[in-house]
Amino acid sequence: MLPSMRVIVFASQKGGSGKTTLAGHLAVQAEACGAGPVAVFDMDPQGSLAKWWNVRAAETPVFIHSEFANLAQNLEQVREKNFSLAVIDTPPAVTRAIAEVVDFADLVVLPTRPSPHDLRAVGATVDIVEAKNKPMIFVVNAATARARITSEAAVALSQHGTVAPVNIHHRVDFAASMIDGRTVMEASPNGRSAKEISALWEYLDLRLAKLDRAILTSSDGTFGAANGAAASGMARHAPAFGRRAMTSNRA
Ligand SMILES: Nc1ncnc2c1ncn2[C@@H]1O[C@H](COP(=O)(O)OP(=O)(O)O)[C@@H](O)[C@H]1O
Ligand SMILES: [Mg+2]
Repeated sequence: MLPSMRVIVFASQKGGSGKTTLAGHLAVQAEACGAGPVAVFDMDPQGSLAKWWNVRAAETPVFIHSEFANLAQNLEQVREKNFSLAVIDTPPAVTRAIAEVVDFADLVVLPTRPSPHDLRAVGATVDIVEAKNKPMIFVVNAATARARITSEAAVALSQHGTVAPVNIHHRVDFAASMIDGRTVMEASPNGRSAKEISALWEYLDLRLAKLDRAILTSSDGTFGAANGAAASGMARHAPAFGRRAMTSNRA
């Protein structure tokens, strides 16, 4: 049976690499492409994605209030409510809690800026993802057009795993569009940034479809572990849907 809901976790130890930016953009893009309904989770105590969502006018994607201790049951609840995709943003850290979030992932996306500091920092995140035996994709984010370091970064990352064939360039509209809760696709639908997000989602969607097929054919069910874990009998509390994103999980 195909997994009823796919879970993408955005993770990287490095702050500022683009986790929150890409989580918000890809959640909106997935919904627009019919891969929804999409539920977004912000596990970062700083709450940047929650704050973005709070000023967002559109009703979708839906924001789910959660915290590390409740993530398993909250994911199970949205799965039961027939959400098709969960997008989880995480803090810039390497902790057991992040490793536990990665446990739920069908796919982990590691955004990385093409800078020596970011590249040196990927190892710790890669270690977590590999320890959990999860599929992962690097995304080169905030790239500068025609800069050699962008292709060098992709080559360096490819030593660790798969690199998305779509680079996200550094453009002001990625930051500016999120000020009022939107994305580049909503602020400037025909712009180059929107095209990049569209191409990146198309690629990730394909990867997820391939992973779905892998689950169907695998005998050990490794890639299906997240679904199995989430389905294994958890307390049933109603998830906190709605626009109160900044309060409950910021202890
Ligand atoms: N492709 C990009 N172009 C321009 N600014 C970006 C881009 N990606 C991220 N930013 C900006 O960089 C900062 C850090 O990005 P963010 O997504 O918050 O990173 P993280 O969640 O990994 O800490 C934010 O101010 C964001 O607006
Ligand atoms: Mg963030």
